[in-house]
Amino acid sequence: MREKKYIVGNWKMNGLASDLMQIGEINAFCRRHATVESAVCPPATLIARAAQVNTDIAIGAQDVHHEASGAHTGCMSAAMIKEAGARFSIIGHSERRADQHETNDMVAAKAAALKAADMGAILCVGETLETRDAGDAIDFVAAQLLASLPNGASSDWLTIAYEPVWAIGTGRVPENSDIADMHAALRAALASKIGANSENMRILYGGSVNGGNAAEILSLDNVDGALVGGASLTAEKFLPILQAAL
Ligand code: 13P
Repeated sequence: MREKKYIVGNWKMNGLASDLMQIGEINAFCRRHATVESAVCPPATLIARAAQVNTDIAIGAQDVHHEASGAHTGCMSAAMIKEAGARFSIIGHSERRADQHETNDMVAAKAAALKAADMGAILCVGETLETRDAGDAIDFVAAQLLASLPNGASSDWLTIAYEPVWAIGTGRVPENSDIADMHAALRAALASKIGANSENMRILYGGSVNGGNAAEILSLDNVDGALVGGASLTAEKFLPILQAAL
């Protein structure tokens, strides 16, 4: 566990230049409050402009290709997003695992590409409602994490995000005890693979986090921060989450 909570906004396929002022307000809040750490992942089209002016927070990408270059129309390498100003990328989000058929192996390769470029990664894992209802959530997510984990995983560049698929954008949040149980299980799984460094690795919770539930979720054992979708799109909704993390 780390002292400072890490609150990351994932804008997904939302945001035009007129929305950059939202990131400006988030950045200004973080300049005033050193006890919370934040980052925003706008769409790739806004990374450069966001990174140029918002230096009190990190700007991240939402995805990266695992290869350095080549015939991959529409994709971006780690070096490209880094040059644009991204300091890290989200990888393995459930929407990409579902829509783009990304496998655990691909996610591990993306993580390795980021590490090779001296960048950070937020690696997402999470179960479907079907798996949760079958009582297999912890086994499934721990296995998914271990299978997606790159060689050389360490807390100085890698962050984990637990995002139950059924809690994303639905307003439904797991019971506090279920979040705590999952995060403890993920930390134990990390310990089995990387040893004592697992203590320092940040494990974020994501899925319908908002200003009303953030304080409670962030107070749970092994919850080091939050990965926020819908409530990160405006400063008005995001700042209360940062406030709850102070
Ligand atoms: P919501 O906060 O909109 O549920 O999205 C969570 C998420 O998927 C962040 O990556």
